[in-house]
Amino acid sequence: MKKVFVIGSGGREHTIVWKLSSSPQIGEIFCAPGNAGISRQAQCVPIPVEDIPGLADFAEKESIDLTVVGPEVPLTMGIVDIFQKRGLIICGPNARAAELEGSKAFAKEFMKKYNIPTADHRTFSDPEKAKEYVKERCTPLVVKADGLAAGKGVMLAITEQQARDAIDLIMIKKDFGTAGNKVVIEEFLLGEEASFLAFTDGETVVPMPSSQDHKAIYDGDQGPNTGGMGAYSPAPVVTSEISEKVMKKIMIPTIKGMAAEGRKYRGILYAGLMIDKGEPWVLEFNTRFGDPETQPLLVKMKNDLLPVLEATITGNLKEMQIEWDARPAVCVVMASSGYPGKYEKGKIISGLEAAEQVKEAFVFHAGTAWNNGKIVTNGGRVLGVTALGNSIQEAINQAYKAVSKITWEGVYHRKDIGSKALKRK
Ligand code: AMP
Ligand code: GLY
Repeated sequence: MKKVFVIGSGGREHTIVWKLSSSPQIGEIFCAPGNAGISRQAQCVPIPVEDIPGLADFAEKESIDLTVVGPEVPLTMGIVDIFQKRGLIICGPNARAAELEGSKAFAKEFMKKYNIPTADHRTFSDPEKAKEYVKERCTPLVVKADGLAAGKGVMLAITEQQARDAIDLIMIKKDFGTAGNKVVIEEFLLGEEASFLAFTDGETVVPMPSSQDHKAIYDGDQGPNTGGMGAYSPAPVVTSEISEKVMKKIMIPTIKGMAAEGRKYRGILYAGLMIDKGEPWVLEFNTRFGDPETQPLLVKMKNDLLPVLEATITGNLKEMQIEWDARPAVCVVMASSGYPGKYEKGKIISGLEAAEQVKEAFVFHAGTAWNNGKIVTNGGRVLGVTALGNSIQEAINQAYKAVSKITWEGVYHRKDIGSKALKRK
């Protein structure tokens, strides 16, 4: 029986742990640092995701057979390189490959070089030059911090002044630290967003079903962006024709291009897309599973996840047949009021068991912790309540039925998750 180690503590990681816990090949699962929900299927160990030597020591001591990395920060820090150097088996891209997410300037240059459809852009390391450029260009524009900023380093500028303010925030005030040493300014794209994830071993690319995130905090996509307030899969905006285009114009050229650059890419590749008039454009690449897209995706996955992740490392993905439940799945994120700004922690969560009894519903934990035998809130995004249904409407109904059973002081969730999919039916 194998021992598996999952790194992270969000809803994505709970879903990965939950999925792996049904693998007949796995005897024990560990998770660092994990959360209250994860502790039901895995042994949680209090090592932060940035403590790469500490994580490697643990994997060595426990003779872990496979480590799976949830978040982007350890990937860009080179966790895969360090584990491999120590002879430890780990799934994900190495640091040079993870730059596809870690540096927007790198990702944009790469896309330009390999003719991968994306918005026109310029990169600047001098704020004055960036401001001269926005003066020449017509707004609207999108101003992005180059490095990782937990989804918050992207600002839409409708006026020249807004673009100048965004440049100041990123490059002068350094709101995102060194992530703002460079700024990427790009053309504003219209359309509907979708997420396209795939498994890859550096040669073969096996797509997952399409999905769609809901980034804004309020209904109708209003208010500031968050890590993601809900997701569903499949996303009807990604027709089979568009899906083919995404594979042909984006996913395969990206994997081939990265190999040609000496940055062979293995693991999960996630393209954040804008679909406009039947054409897909890349907004960004992520080098990992999405959160909350993983919740609906993995409840739909019929295969054992373990051999698929192993195949991304051994290069045997070509031999894998991955099967997916055809039914739609919907995830509604329940958050602490105040998120994505300031919020309180430590509120007692009630109704979890009742929610889990709703047919085809799964309650994945994100910011939760144990306190005196009770499960309490411990983050901005707290739960990802996910359900399968025979139709998108039924999946929405089941997810919200489960959501309605759960409460705590100051609970917040969007009420319109899945409504775009309904409109397209
Ligand atoms: P990113 O982290 O680059 O995906 O950007 C975060 C969000 O900003 C995206 O999900 C979009 O909603 C929006 N966005 C980013 N780039 C553009 C663009 N070029 N045009 C329109 N919206 C964008
Ligand atoms: N759902 C957006 C992300 O995972 O980055």
